[in-house]
Amino acid sequence: MDDKLRIILDEHKAKEGTLISLMQDINEEYKYLPEEVLREVSDELDIPISRFFSLATFYSCFRLEPMGKKHICVCVGTACHVRGAPLVVDTIERGLGMKSGETSEDGEYTLDSVNCVGACALGPLVTIDGEFFGHMDQKKVKKLLNEEKTSVV
Ligand code: FES
Repeated sequence: MDDKLRIILDEHKAKEGTLISLMQDINEEYKYLPEEVLREVSDELDIPISRFFSLATFYSCFRLEPMGKKHICVCVGTACHVRGAPLVVDTIERGLGMKSGETSEDGEYTLDSVNCVGACALGPLVTIDGEFFGHMDQKKVKKLLNEEKTSVV
């Protein structure tokens, strides 16, 4: 067990925190829930590993796969949807050769479709690591992807 996990587990035991809060701490530390870490925690707390997996798949805040270096989100909330978000998603999926919810094979990108992020006037909206790119269409998002790809060296 590595030191990071030891600290999280000790704090969790001291606080008598919930399993969800423990998983949130692990997810935050590792940026996802590594299976080997869940197995160590399962052994230590004597909680079946299946319980961790069922919670991890139920709550969308958890990830079972590592995140890419860049996190791209496309808002597919109603305002963005009616202005063409599905085409933006499709363009990014084709451009990166991956589906929404996946991480690219080279580990550079994770793509997610998300619900309204509260900037509807900018729709269709794309965020990259939290930075907003508004009024996206197929042409603009292709340009944005090309700029991103050339900045990833
Ligand atoms: S619907 Fe996309 S920001 Fe609100």
